Amino acid sequence: MDDDLGLALECARRAAVIVREGFRSATETHFKGEVDPVTRFDRAAETAIRELLEVEVPADQVLGEEEGGTGWDRGRVWIVDPLDGTVNFIHGIPQVSVSVALWEGGRPVVGVVRDVIGGEVFSAQSGRGARLDGRRIAVSDVSDVGAALVATGFPYDRRERAGELAEVLGRVLAAVQGIRRFGSAALDLAWVAAGRFDAYWEYRLAPWDTAAGQLLVEEAGGRVSDLAGQRYLPDAPALLATNGDLHDRLRSVIGLGQ
Ligand code: IPD
Ligand code: CA
Ligand code: CA
Repeated sequence: MDDDLGLALECARRAAVIVREGFRSATETHFKGEVDPVTRFDRAAETAIRELLEVEVPADQVLGEEEGGTGWDRGRVWIVDPLDGTVNFIHGIPQVSVSVALWEGGRPVVGVVRDVIGGEVFSAQSGRGARLDGRRIAVSDVSDVGAALVATGFPYDRRERAGELAEVLGRVLAAVQGIRRFGSAALDLAWVAAGRFDAYWEYRLAPWDTAAGQLLVEEAGGRVSDLAGQRYLPDAPALLATNGDLHDRLRSVIGLGQ
């Protein structure tokens, strides 16, 4: 493999072949927590990615959802969600992705999000822009919060925090044009990068949910922060990604609550 972007694209392609094979097949589901499912396809897709990385870049570290690994802020680290949208996958809903990122010294270098069923491939390289199927993409130019279409998601500890989450949701609902909850954080970020969503926020995401999508949004001209407005780090308790123009106003609507 001749470059990091090419390797990330190939990792995502191989994982997507495995996930697609399992889509709409009757498959056994296990639970990692009360509401956090995993299937053999999540695991097989991560194994395929790890095997390729082991051959191509044996000195690099890997952090993946299913097998864990090193921290995201040390050396060259491949941060991998082999199947983002497992609940959709189990229900046969075609909003499912593979997310592969390379971080170096705590900063994103390459990000790829592949829509498994739709086939779209979002990619970005630090300082070189974001692309959809090879063509440059940019965030939207909506600057009126009332006209914004905003995506969100609900964290896996939602049962304990349903009241607080509903309060924030209510505030945003009253302020924006519409809210969507599609169920793949990596695709939510990719769609902000492509200008389909004007913004996206969610609490308690994991590094593998955001590592590629954050770079996509930033390289497409958008902004990704925590709720205090600081640049987003993969262990922050909440993420807000916007086209930039909407950022501070939407942040004050959401507030600091988690
Ligand atoms: C989940 C999805 C979902 C988001 C959750 C994530 P998984 O990832 O990205 O959209 O709301 O917070 O954990 O478990 O399907 O890889
Ligand atoms: Ca995920
Ligand atoms: Ca996953």
